[in-house]
Amino acid sequence: MAAAARKHFVGGNWKCNKTLAEVSELAAGISACLTGGVDVMVSPSPLYLPAVLANASNGLIVSSQNVSATGFGAFTGEIAPEQLLDIGVQWTIIGHSERRKYYGEIDEVVTTKVKQALEKGLSVVACFGETKAQRDAGETDHVVLTQLGAIVRGATGHFDRLVLAYEPVWAIGTGLTCDGDEAQRVCALLRNNLKHVSFEVANNTRIIYGGSVKPNNCQGLIAKPDIDGFLVGGASLSVEKFAPIINSAKPSGKL
Ligand code: PGA
Repeated sequence: MAAAARKHFVGGNWKCNKTLAEVSELAAGISACLTGGVDVMVSPSPLYLPAVLANASNGLIVSSQNVSATGFGAFTGEIAPEQLLDIGVQWTIIGHSERRKYYGEIDEVVTTKVKQALEKGLSVVACFGETKAQRDAGETDHVVLTQLGAIVRGATGHFDRLVLAYEPVWAIGTGLTCDGDEAQRVCALLRNNLKHVSFEVANNTRIIYGGSVKPNNCQGLIAKPDIDGFLVGGASLSVEKFAPIINSAKPSGKL
């Protein structure tokens, strides 16, 4: 199946940024730009999920940035998958490099979270990628395939609700984008590995790239056959920067 058969996916990860008024305005502004053809997601701080839902229209997907590995119960500070679904949030990001680096989310935790979230009915953007030290040591392929394995173990039976986000850690928030050919090489490696699950899963799973995606580099990246969209941090915080990235991923925007 050709890459064009996979609907492109562009996510904006707002991280721990902005106020209630600002996220409401941003969600409405992004919604106003949407004309279909690409799945577009935004992910605010959890406190603001209801407000962003209320301001989202034209198919804008609203996602959590994280979810609990557990359900209802005595788990102070956690957000259960059931609670996200209860307020109308159907997507969550899992395994972002900042969760892995600052909050101890090792692969085993990612497996559990992916499993819980998918089994409860959420859709998942699962993030992973190598650090600078791992890349410099020539370990990129081994690291990303190991991380992919942890995600795949959690996703059994639910691959239709999984998006994979390859995000080299050294490219996140640094202004250093992975070279398009190298990003394509890694995404093709990942897709090829998914054939161990099935050819259908390898062909149908969307693999998106994240790491300093900007209006001036998105065209070159989306032109690659195994890159099906983006996860965007900094440039998703303004309509002016996010809209051209969304537009690049529309079917007509494919070079
Ligand atoms: P960035 O962040 O676009 O600011 O590099 C990407 C991400 O953290 O997903």
